[in-house]
Amino acid sequence: MVDSSFNAGEIARVIKAENLKLEYIISTHSHSDHTAGNAELRSMFNAKTVAHKLSRINLGVKVDDGDIISIGSITAKVIHTPGHTPDSICLLLDNQKLLTGDTLFVGECGRTDLAGGNSKNMYNSLFHKIMKLNDDVEVYPGHDYGSKSSSTIGEERRSNYTLEPRSLAEFIEFMRQP
Ligand SMILES: [Fe+2]
Repeated sequence: MVDSSFNAGEIARVIKAENLKLEYIISTHSHSDHTAGNAELRSMFNAKTVAHKLSRINLGVKVDDGDIISIGSITAKVIHTPGHTPDSICLLLDNQKLLTGDTLFVGECGRTDLAGGNSKNMYNSLFHKIMKLNDDVEVYPGHDYGSKSSSTIGEERRSNYTLEPRSLAEFIEFMRQP
């Protein structure tokens, strides 16, 4: 399970109804709108919490860039993508699907003006990590802010205005604008 948000009850209902085993509670970053249900799910299912090593809230497994988490038959690769927060990660599932948390949305990128936000780090995360992935990788953001709930790296490369070619200085100035 990635980013419980405020939905612990609904997640628990699905896990039980589908007879699933909850092994890992993974957080893309420590903001409460992503993690509010973690404690309840951890106690209900005795699952391990997983977050980046810089996370202040994680009591469980600490991961860093390049780490691999095996979840049944799925391989999740951790990509450290600071910018929205220092502990932000994206998860690349089987080299096909990217869970982007609040780093990249459909048509947008995450805010860098909250506590711990950093536009230089966001630039490096977006342009030197996320945009290095293949165009056919599917993108699943942590919020449904765009015209649809998922996309691909190629679509975002072509149509996301935050990913237009910019120098670092231009990007920092761009992110300052309201
Ligand atoms: Fe966030």
